[in-house]
Amino acid sequence: MAAPAKLIAIIASLSLSLYSLYLLTNRRRAISHSKHKTLITTHNNNKPKRNGIVGAIGNTPLIRINSLSDATGCEILAKAEFLNPGGSVKDRVAVKIIEEALESGQLLKGGVVTEGSAGSTAISLATVAPAYGCKCHVVIPDDAAIEKSEILEALGATVERVRPVSITHKDHFVNIARRRALEANKLALQDINQTDTKNVTNTNGYSSDKGQQGAIVSSEHKGGFFADQFENLANYRAHYEGTGPEIWEQTGGKLHAFIAAAGTGGTVAGVSRFLKEKDPGIKCFLVDPPGSGLFNKVTRGVMYTKEEAEGKRLKNPFDTITEGIGINRLTENFKMAQLDGAFKGTDIEAVEMSRFLLKNDGLFIGSSSAMNCVGAVRLARLLGPGHTVVTILCDSGMRHLSKFCNPEYLSQHGLTPSAKALEFLDCR
Ligand SMILES: Cc1ncc(COP(=O)(O)O)c(C=O)c1O
Repeated sequence: MAAPAKLIAIIASLSLSLYSLYLLTNRRRAISHSKHKTLITTHNNNKPKRNGIVGAIGNTPLIRINSLSDATGCEILAKAEFLNPGGSVKDRVAVKIIEEALESGQLLKGGVVTEGSAGSTAISLATVAPAYGCKCHVVIPDDAAIEKSEILEALGATVERVRPVSITHKDHFVNIARRRALEANKLALQDINQTDTKNVTNTNGYSSDKGQQGAIVSSEHKGGFFADQFENLANYRAHYEGTGPEIWEQTGGKLHAFIAAAGTGGTVAGVSRFLKEKDPGIKCFLVDPPGSGLFNKVTRGVMYTKEEAEGKRLKNPFDTITEGIGINRLTENFKMAQLDGAFKGTDIEAVEMSRFLLKNDGLFIGSSSAMNCVGAVRLARLLGPGHTVVTILCDSGMRHLSKFCNPEYLSQHGLTPSAKALEFLDCR
């Protein structure tokens, strides 16, 4: 009897151990499952909700461009600004311009924001204006791609296509846009006078322009505001308060250099000022397309010869395929930049770079972004391996289908890409 009793005892103790093991394993599984669940839940809860379209602007990802980083031995990082709701870096600027104008009382809800722009800023203004209860009127040169005015109209903006003339001409599209805001204000003032409303004090910051007739802007008499992206420092502040701090946070302050091309100069100005205030050792550079005077300004202190000054030429002074960058006058925004140096970039380099990034990284970017990446590689090579260089991907190739991303157009201009790798950057 002793042997079976012993056997039973052994079996019982074995079963108990197995049962305990089973319980333990299941508990671990349960804990691990619930941990995983918690992680997922926490992750979801931590994703901040964005407040409307305006809240969805900014906080763009900082992407490591693997191909360029591997090729240079540097970390080449780029802000994916093409992911903003309006498709470009200019969304930040549009928001800042409108918000500052509303705060100062220069723009009223229901008023019209006017801008002379053939590009991204107009699209961004048209995108965000309705979120502020405002309208948007855009004046563009009639040689700008037709898709641009179609997009603007689809967004609800009114569009005026005008003959391209020099910036010094009163009918340059920027000058007409300024005038349209004045005309809208004139209408608003007439309204105020007619209703004799003594308590209404808003004049939107402008006096009526008696010399201008035939306003085509109807703002339902709430007045107008000229966005003026080149001279309005709200542009610079959008980057000083937004893009710059985001780059600093996303890199943990561990970056050595920043580089971008300039149109209005808002991006290089805002980002360079912010980064230099954080760490004066961060090198800030400009990359400049053909036809622009900024390279000379940064490297030699002189922008142009007298003959080249903007306004002395009859039409478009630029000889570049890149859009939105390059300029021959010193804007208030650019004056805020703190730059250590500049590089020149060519059209073929920008085209080749865009194809290289598409092939190697799956990045489909526009012409100014491609020029920025040309600059980033130049700067990385200047600094040497082991450095972190940040740049901007301003918009996507989707905005450039008819020219920069059109093989026929490129072939007509002798810009057909043929490089196998980055050898095109050594050909100068
Ligand atoms: C597509 C694109 N990239 C770059 C820029 C240049 O940026 P910024 O005006 O801040 O110098 C512009 C300006 O209009 C632009 O439209």
